[in-house]
Amino acid sequence: MPLSVIILAAGQGTRMKSSLPKVLHPVAGRTMLEHVYQCSCELKADAIYIVYGHGGEQLKAACKKYQAHWVEQVEQLGTAHAVQQASSKIPDDHTVLVLYGDVPLIKAATLKKLLADIKDDNIALLTALLTDPTGYGRIVRDNHDVVAAIVEHKDASVAEQKICEVNTGIVAIRAGYLNQCLKRIGNDNVQGEYYLTDLIELAVNDGRTVITTQPASTAEVEGINDRNQLAKLERIVQQEYAFALMADGVSIADPARIDIRGELNAGNDTYIDVNCIFEGEVNLGTGVSIGAGCVIKNSTIACDCVIKPYSIIENAMLAKGVEVGPYARIRPGTQLAAGSRVGNFVEIKNTSLGKNSKASHLTYLGDCEIGDNVNIGAGTITCNYDGANKHKTVIKDGAFIGSDTQLVAPVTIGENATIGAGSTITRDSDDNALTLSRAAQKTIKNWQRPQKKK
Ligand code: UD1
Ligand code: CA
Repeated sequence: MPLSVIILAAGQGTRMKSSLPKVLHPVAGRTMLEHVYQCSCELKADAIYIVYGHGGEQLKAACKKYQAHWVEQVEQLGTAHAVQQASSKIPDDHTVLVLYGDVPLIKAATLKKLLADIKDDNIALLTALLTDPTGYGRIVRDNHDVVAAIVEHKDASVAEQKICEVNTGIVAIRAGYLNQCLKRIGNDNVQGEYYLTDLIELAVNDGRTVITTQPASTAEVEGINDRNQLAKLERIVQQEYAFALMADGVSIADPARIDIRGELNAGNDTYIDVNCIFEGEVNLGTGVSIGAGCVIKNSTIACDCVIKPYSIIENAMLAKGVEVGPYARIRPGTQLAAGSRVGNFVEIKNTSLGKNSKASHLTYLGDCEIGDNVNIGAGTITCNYDGANKHKTVIKDGAFIGSDTQLVAPVTIGENATIGAGSTITRDSDDNALTLSRAAQKTIKNWQRPQKKK
């Protein structure tokens, strides 16, 4: 049966107190809407409709890649009205699944269960059992435990308010029957809104059955209205990610102190110390060690690498057994070959460092091609920028760069060349030779130091 998903995202989200539309706030590095959209894609929906109201331009700009129909709800007259804006465009034989842009943790597995039993003459409703059902619509069941109606919290009697089974708002129904019902829903209630939930009572009165399913975890159906709830769901997702990694053989020093804002893949026996942030797509091999406080973005780090604390790595490739940090900054376009080392207070950008080469201390390497077994002394600076253009530094295999050297690019350092400490190198240096540019050392005897004035 064809499936059309409607994602409601027209609410203003006033409690977020934000210029950003609510559904664009991120959870685990992806917008709330992205989570719901991805979930709809996992269901192989034939069509996805996003109902928007506020911040339409901002929303569409942020979601350019989506294959979705954007439907504007000009005035927010209630959830039934919102659904109608999209459902009126959906063919009768489609199953419609209603999701919410601000309920981001819903899982495809739960929805598959919900959709499994949907037929022409029934409605599938996702409900949840909450210890504190305050604010939610309550599920009213008859003497035979069959769903009879949903009563909104604001419309509920004292007895009804005690019901702990609540409406998640997520519902599946055939489009033909849905559209027929939506025409019959009025706004005679406390909020003066067209409630989608009235659908249930209508269907029951029409003699249709309402089947219910529950999610594996209530977090799946929690909505986000303010930044407090946003932070709470963020922690829940992070814990889920951490538990999944640990189940796969990754050690995490403290699963409450890790942030994965995207996708982290890691091999067995990889160890992640506290307070690390992973962004975008990060791939770690087996036996990798990530020290405390590292920030790693869109990078691949092969087996047995050791990343010492407080290192920042972005858009880089690290081959097997590389050591980085502590306090290293590996910037985009960097490739570190097997066994190479980058030590403390070293910044590397758009540079390839060859096998077993080392830059252990206080160095800037920008736009370099560095061979194997090269030693870069402390305080080496590649002067890659002349104020207008960037230039390249080539350092060939086996070269030794003495400490406190400036390499003024474009420049090439030959194979097995040695550069004397304290040099400013402006021309290419020969293979196997010592090159240095340094004022000759002199001594002034009996030197009188300045005296403090009386
Ligand atoms: C709704 C349900 C309630 C359920 C709860 C679960 C109704 C009438 N009530 O209540 O039974 O327990 O969700 O969270 O459906 N929206 C629009 N356009 C509108 C109104 C709402 O797009 O005109 C969107 C909002 O952006 C929001 C969602 O629909 O994402 C829910 O609307 P909201 O007004 O928050 O409904 P609740 O009072 O939470
Ligand atoms: Ca809500």
